[in-house]
Amino acid sequence: FGRLGEDLKERKKITIPDLYQMKKDGQKISMITAYDYPTAVLAEQAGVDTVLVGDSLGNVVMGLDSTVPVTMEEMLHHIKAVRRGVRNALLIGDMPFLSYQVSREQAITNAGRFLKEGGCDMVKLEGGSEMAPTVKAIVDAGIPVCAHIGLTPQSVSKLGGYKVQGKDLSGAQRMIDSAKALQAAGADMIVFECIPSALAKAITSAVSMVTIGIGAGPDCDGQVLVFHDVVGFTTRKTPKMAKQYVDLFAKVRKALSSYHQDVKSGAFPAPEHGFAMDAKVVKKLKI
Ligand code: KIV
Repeated sequence: FGRLGEDLKERKKITIPDLYQMKKDGQKISMITAYDYPTAVLAEQAGVDTVLVGDSLGNVVMGLDSTVPVTMEEMLHHIKAVRRGVRNALLIGDMPFLSYQVSREQAITNAGRFLKEGGCDMVKLEGGSEMAPTVKAIVDAGIPVCAHIGLTPQSVSKLGGYKVQGKDLSGAQRMIDSAKALQAAGADMIVFECIPSALAKAITSAVSMVTIGIGAGPDCDGQVLVFHDVVGFTTRKTPKMAKQYVDLFAKVRKALSSYHQDVKSGAFPAPEHGFAMDAKVVKKLKI
């Protein structure tokens, strides 16, 4: 992969105030997940506004059943790769399970590592009102926070599976209260995952922070999807909330199968894939 093209230098670096302005102007915000350098370059070249190194890393890249086992070191490893490819988009790092729940001190330390070592612009963490004091502590340390409510995959056992959240009155009210508490704690952005569209719309108009939806309808300030779902580079069925734009898995499988057959048949490598040697040198070789 070459370095980013000169043409991309013209794009302005997206800041948090820019995102607030986009919300104010009714200009939708795009977010995509990325876990490696080439994907980050693609997201940047596509002009995506914000890139999230999600702990969905566990499911889509590491082949795990959930995001729970993902560690700080694994996240940092991937964040550093993505940072090298993201130039102007806002880069968000997803704090893995138990990196921010144990104590506020640990939450600040780990969030700080995402900025200092990973080069993130913002960190994301899951949880409702109960996480507000932690969000406040991180924000007070000078680290911008994106909250995440609704279907929070790190709590999948407690939620009883990957289900839509906030459908009944008490659940929806809890979601509203959480969003307000997280905003009061200093969160600049919030992800709504799998909540009813009407609820996402109501919260979006009630808060000043930027709302990003995934399975939360069209009225959030922006949308996020998992890269592998968008390009069909996955073994899992496309989730209902995602849109698959290309079936990369099928295309890559076909390409790999052709390569495999070419090696077997000798069609690859062809002369143009090799390197010549002066015939005089060949002659002098002692074999
Ligand atoms: O981990 C992740 O990719 C996420 C997004 C789906 C919001 O949290």
